[in-house]
Amino acid sequence: MKAFGMGFDLATFLAVYGAIFDGDLTSYSIGGPALSLLGLGSLLGEPQGLSGSHNKYEGDLSPIHGDLYQYGNNLPRVSQFAALYKLGQENGDSVDLDVLTEFRLQRFEQSVAENPYFFFAPFSGTIVNPAAYTFIYRFMANKSAENPEGVLDGETLKSFYAVTGNYPDFTITPGHERFPDNWYKRNLVDYYTIPYFQEDLLAMNLQHLQFLSVGGNTGTTNSFVGVEPADLTNGVFNATNLLEGNNAFCFGTELILQMAPDLLSGLFHDITQALGMLTSAVNDTTLGLNCPQLTSIDKTKFNKFPGYTKLKPNGVYKA
Ligand SMILES: *[C@@H]1O[C@H](CO)[C@@H](O)[C@H](O)[C@H]1NC(C)=O
Ligand SMILES: *[C@@H]1O[C@H](CO)[C@@H](O)[C@H](O)[C@H]1NC(C)=O
Ligand SMILES: *[C@@H]1O[C@H](CO)[C@@H](O)[C@H](O)[C@H]1NC(C)=O
Repeated sequence: MKAFGMGFDLATFLAVYGAIFDGDLTSYSIGGPALSLLGLGSLLGEPQGLSGSHNKYEGDLSPIHGDLYQYGNNLPRVSQFAALYKLGQENGDSVDLDVLTEFRLQRFEQSVAENPYFFFAPFSGTIVNPAAYTFIYRFMANKSAENPEGVLDGETLKSFYAVTGNYPDFTITPGHERFPDNWYKRNLVDYYTIPYFQEDLLAMNLQHLQFLSVGGNTGTTNSFVGVEPADLTNGVFNATNLLEGNNAFCFGTELILQMAPDLLSGLFHDITQALGMLTSAVNDTTLGLNCPQLTSIDKTKFNKFPGYTKLKPNGVYKA
């Protein structure tokens, strides 16, 4: 992640989170079982990596990857890449945060319209998903003295996503993702940190309130129901205060702690260690943010969403 210029705080949090949910507590892979297995003896099965972490880390509404239950896999989709590429072209061959915000809204509407099991999950929807969009610009844009924030043109985007061909007849060849030649990363004094990400998150949320609506389709397309944040959190968060300060970030990160025991019990015989690591990571990440303290949530509010219940066939989550 250093190659991109990711802040240590953000990299650490994402690494710890990924290692807990998709790995073996020390590392995780992009797809498939992690190579280094700790002798913990408490893992229920082989860690599945990011591709096996649906709605825990990887979720619906990815920019380029399809929704798992819509396609039966979460492979990159040419149609989604082409839609983003086109928006960039219409913006003077520049994919910036406005373009990505617009694209995320399109993807949201597309998931509601096409994926009966669309589930906009508490943490993966409100934190990981927006990060997946802001990272595209913040990390893939080519930085220069003239454009310190960076410029992300169509060719650079194609290189990072292993795309060849011309719009709209693209081909994606997974495994061939590469840094473009002559491409420059973030300045060393300007790494992308959590406070920086929070600003981008707030800007996105203020433009489209959908981005805070944890919820989903109820088994048919176009049946999206959002869960009122106040109902979910017993009033600690509400639709109004979620748009203030760091609250959206607090909401997402604190929600994962509330969801963690269920999620982890599908992964570990004994969740103590994993839960402890996660709690410390969340504590470190939210230190100094004055987050409202979330101590419980009403998970039954999610029972009407098959995208949620499909994850736990026997009362525990399965990837
Ligand atoms: C990145 O920007 C520099 C400076 O403008 C330029 O020379 C270089 O060709 C650009 N690289 C890419 C991949 O666009
Ligand atoms: C939202 O919560 C804040 C405090 O956290 C409270 O002051 C406010 O009245 C609440 N707003 C609504 C609409 O419930
Ligand atoms: C996290 O913070 C909470 C609240 O301040 C505290 O009770 C808890 O002990 C901390 N946990 C860890 C693992 O640091």
